[in-house]
Amino acid sequence: MSLMQNRIEGKWTFITGATAGIGKAIAKLFAEAGSNLVLNGRRENRLEKLKLQLEKHYDITIALASFDVRDRNVAEQFLNDFSEPIDILVNNAGLARGVDAVFDADHEDWDSMVDTNIKGVLNMTRLISPQMKERNSGHIINIGSIAGHESYPGGSVYCATKHAIKGFTEATKKDLHGTNIRVSMVSPGLVETEFSEVRFKGDKDRADQVYDDIEPLVAQDIAEIVHFIANRPPHVNIMDTIVFPVDQSSSTMVHREND
Ligand SMILES: NC(=O)c1ccc[n+]([C@@H]2O[C@H](COP(=O)([O-])OP(=O)(O)OC[C@H]3O[C@@H](n4cnc5c(N)ncnc54)[C@H](OP(=O)(O)O)[C@@H]3O)[C@@H](O)[C@H]2O)c1
Repeated sequence: MSLMQNRIEGKWTFITGATAGIGKAIAKLFAEAGSNLVLNGRRENRLEKLKLQLEKHYDITIALASFDVRDRNVAEQFLNDFSEPIDILVNNAGLARGVDAVFDADHEDWDSMVDTNIKGVLNMTRLISPQMKERNSGHIINIGSIAGHESYPGGSVYCATKHAIKGFTEATKKDLHGTNIRVSMVSPGLVETEFSEVRFKGDKDRADQVYDDIEPLVAQDIAEIVHFIANRPPHVNIMDTIVFPVDQSSSTMVHREND
């Protein structure tokens, strides 16, 4: 059997948060592998641009699902109207807001993290898993984080949401025990995307400092791991992968060149 066997070609992959960063890189890599795509994110103009770009290069079909994953009704409506089977669901949409301690953090930041990172994943999984169960095939891949394995100061609620994803991924696997549906998670460390800009609410200088004097992961690094997980033979279920840049050894241990 060739190492390069392509098991993704012709499948339908639904990627949440495909307008930027890791989700966008997954979309590009899966398009290259010949997967049809459903691309989600709130910034519709970015999705349209990505669709045009990918369709120009690859012979695949792309549908756009421009909605907020927090909105269960809109997500349900979209899926009721969408007739293709979803083979792979990548629950990637997520964000961190702020680095405040529990005693002075902002309630709205907390709501947006809990509603997006937890309830968004619950919504999409609840809506798409029944059709997978009906067909007895499919793969759910959740983007967790090192923050789902260890907690750090200033990350209380972000860490809590990613710990929730770890628990949810493991329980989903168990709920689907005895079926052919696979359930996986990828837990990255520092990846240079728009993530820190969102966390620091548009303060680009502060966001850039996160990656100062280190070589962080890039979105493509994580996309390649998601692709590897999805492209395993049907009997192989990778539960989780923790992925650090070499310069990082834990949530808080980051080696900077000038240290
Ligand atoms: N970067 C890191 O260091 C890192 C490390 C570990 C884990 N992660 C996780 O990786 C995932 C992707 O993050 P990233 O680094 O690629 O960040 P990013 O560049 O900021 O991308 C986040 C994506 O999520 C989408 N999104 C956010 N809220 C959404 C909502 N309510 N509905 C639909 N889409 C939404 C955004 O699209 P719109 O704004 O257009 O909706 C965007 O496409 C997240 O789950 C994050 O927690 C990141």
